[in-house]
Amino acid sequence: MGRKVILDVDPGIDDAIAIILACNSPEIEILGVTTVAGNVSIEKATRNALRILEYVGCSHIPVYPGISKPIYGELHTIESIHGENGLGDVGLPDPNTSPRERHAVDFLREIVASEKPGEITLVATGPLTNVATALLLDPSIARRLSSIISMGGAFGTNLYGCGNQTPRAEFNVATDPVAAKLVYQSGAELYLFGLDVTMRPDVSIKGDLYRRLGSSGSRCGELVYRMLHRFIDMFGSATIHDPIALSYVLRPHLFDFREAYVDVEICGDVTRGETVADLRDWLPPNLKKPPNAKICIDLKAKELLDFIFSRIILK
Ligand code: RIB
Ligand code: CA
Repeated sequence: MGRKVILDVDPGIDDAIAIILACNSPEIEILGVTTVAGNVSIEKATRNALRILEYVGCSHIPVYPGISKPIYGELHTIESIHGENGLGDVGLPDPNTSPRERHAVDFLREIVASEKPGEITLVATGPLTNVATALLLDPSIARRLSSIISMGGAFGTNLYGCGNQTPRAEFNVATDPVAAKLVYQSGAELYLFGLDVTMRPDVSIKGDLYRRLGSSGSRCGELVYRMLHRFIDMFGSATIHDPIALSYVLRPHLFDFREAYVDVEICGDVTRGETVADLRDWLPPNLKKPPNAKICIDLKAKELLDFIFSRIILK
């Protein structure tokens, strides 16, 4: 039996690749997929999660639809980036399977309560709306989860650690900054994968690696090649934020972290959604808040890309 994982996603092209990576990895047992509005509406995100699971032969994995808008503020989807259907406008058949009746938040609460503490890892690659709401309803989830691995934020640990949705805010946190603030303050074991590492050029898919996806002879490789075509067309390379975060579950030794206290700006006119990490190492510990998160500050890019590629083309 593999490591028990829940995926909370807003597919979205890179979420879809993370789902494929998880399904092609025997080290983990996916207990369920919960969907959240972000890249696209909750309806599209849910339909896409079902489509991808069916495509990789994992339609036995349950999908639980989640919350359709941020805790506070409006939802601004980004079909301009992910395509009208959210999967790079790649034509995938409508799913034959249906989502479960149970709400994502209820599933999260119930599955975490039913397992022994420390058994489940939650990998969140979209806005943290579902996760924050579950934590509000049952704060014990923070201690019962082994950890929360979150793709989101930008922590200023290097030049890439600024925003993408705004000059200071990363999309997942910018979409629901209140949710991110609540999760960061929940006391859960947090591993945060921000743009500092996911936007690095040496960990994006391009050139020969991209072409090899298309010529791999693998069904998953071909689908990923087709979905990423949009990013290659628009940007010349494809950032794969979400598969990078998920890969920590599978190859933790490829990543380096530093601890810091992280908070989220929820009011700023210009900075709303900014993730503010206290990186003042020169300050004595008694003069600053204790760390609440591990921020990924480095990764072994070539080994990581080789690993992700090898898993995508397994099927
Ligand atoms: O900023 C990148 C994140 O926003 C990724 O999770 C991508 O899927 C979008 O949700
Ligand atoms: Ca995402």
